[in-house]
Amino acid sequence: MRTSVSLAVLAAVSGATAFWRMECHGRLGIARIDPLISPGEVAQHAHSIHGSSGFSESATYQNLIDADCTSCAVTQDKSVYWHPSLYFQHANGTYESVEQVGGMLAYYFLYGDDGSKDSSITAFPSDFRMIAGNSLRRSYSIAGYSAFDADPEKSFWSKLGQTSQTDLAQRALGFNCLNYNKQPEGSLYRHVMPEKSYLDANCADGVRFEIMFPSCWNGKDLDTKDHKSHVAYPDLVMNGVCPQGFDVKLPGLFYETIWATNAFNNVDGQFVIANGDVHGFGYHADFMNGWNPDFLQKAVDTCTDGSGKIQDCPIFDIQSLEDQQKCSLKVPKALVSEKVVGLVGNSLPGDVAIQYGPDSATVKNPALPTTTQELPTVGYSEGAQATGTAYQPGQIFKESPSSAAVPSPSVSLSKVAALAQATPPAPTEAPVAPAAVDDSKYEVVRTDYITVGDVVSMIIVKEAVEYVTVTTTTVTATGSAKARREVHMHRHAGRHGHNGRHLS
Ligand SMILES: *[C@@H]1O[C@H](CO)[C@@H](O)[C@H](O)[C@H]1NC(C)=O
Repeated sequence: MRTSVSLAVLAAVSGATAFWRMECHGRLGIARIDPLISPGEVAQHAHSIHGSSGFSESATYQNLIDADCTSCAVTQDKSVYWHPSLYFQHANGTYESVEQVGGMLAYYFLYGDDGSKDSSITAFPSDFRMIAGNSLRRSYSIAGYSAFDADPEKSFWSKLGQTSQTDLAQRALGFNCLNYNKQPEGSLYRHVMPEKSYLDANCADGVRFEIMFPSCWNGKDLDTKDHKSHVAYPDLVMNGVCPQGFDVKLPGLFYETIWATNAFNNVDGQFVIANGDVHGFGYHADFMNGWNPDFLQKAVDTCTDGSGKIQDCPIFDIQSLEDQQKCSLKVPKALVSEKVVGLVGNSLPGDVAIQYGPDSATVKNPALPTTTQELPTVGYSEGAQATGTAYQPGQIFKESPSSAAVPSPSVSLSKVAALAQATPPAPTEAPVAPAAVDDSKYEVVRTDYITVGDVVSMIIVKEAVEYVTVTTTTVTATGSAKARREVHMHRHAGRHGHNGRHLS
């Protein structure tokens, strides 16, 4: 029996799903404060801020841990979690804040480095800080793929050359269309904010913004000038193999924030993130550690329950919802009179102008928007339950179309074929057709080519409601051909357990 690469990856995921979800039901406030990007100054754009009330434009670790409250549930966590807030621009030009539903969640995933024998997780050191995402990004660029294509199955990412840090950072963003009457979409499934008309038609319960932080650390810098270079993504964004030089595995932070975009259903206008981004490519988030590292290490080592519930971690002291919501920010003088909630006027807080892209945004706000970018809309698609897991962010992960009902656009063949450096040589014999599976139940949804060295692999992805069949035909440059078939039985909506079998 042949070992399947994709199955090995899935197994690794399901074998290491220890995590907890830090609930932050309170919000310290919305303000143009960002001690990482704009220390000691008013920041460019408004952020929604959660965590320790010691936060300020010049906050230090000491300030955070000395503070008397946190807007998150666990009192030992004096970290601060922040991200740009969301606004709606009415047709008449007036901006209005969008309501944030239920605060935010910060997941702590405890995935080891799959490339290392050492599967340990190291707690964030005292003064540790980092940023995920890029506020100036206004486009999506992963070779052969657009933000509207479903991601290829994770096991193909490296073969497709899609594991650069820039690629992974773009796949670390998710805009989840919420409709509680449907099966939920997968986390990090859609890497672009849907258009207003799409939201009106499909996302009856709003949109969940998702962002995964890098979790591989260089082991020495607590921060770097760009607040990113000291950390890196593992090659599957959430988990996988850490790049060389980033051998220390940190807890994997993943923020989820729900915005009530549905409150503007059938109202003319557009949604704009506080940094002047309408597509979400420039969505980003910041983290400043406020845990005692010894305590966090103990939590990381002992709170390895798969439930994700902070209540299942006995060392956490959990405060009431009311106490979380009581904790707020001391707004600096310069910002006291700035309107950031409700109808805020004819510009975003800080006079941030919309920059549509696809060119990178500039930090200085241009007087007028630059070129506009017409973008299609990715379709709604229910997520596939990750294998063997009780609970995941948004309940669910999604990595490739897994249902016969997957709407177009799916990955286009031309895009993937364009990736191939060489034209696939014709095989000298027809690929061996695997016999043991009843093909009538499947339909081909796409064909991908992957070129690695002189080997061109053709991957035919077939899908049915309950099963996903991946047939890989490998053609070497010398012309010999062999076929491999893997049958993945994915479970949908948690109705079936994962199973895998391989026919060679
Ligand atoms: C713009 O439209 C919104 C929504 O209808 C309204 O609340 C607001 O007062 C209007 N602003 C101006 C300046 O007319």
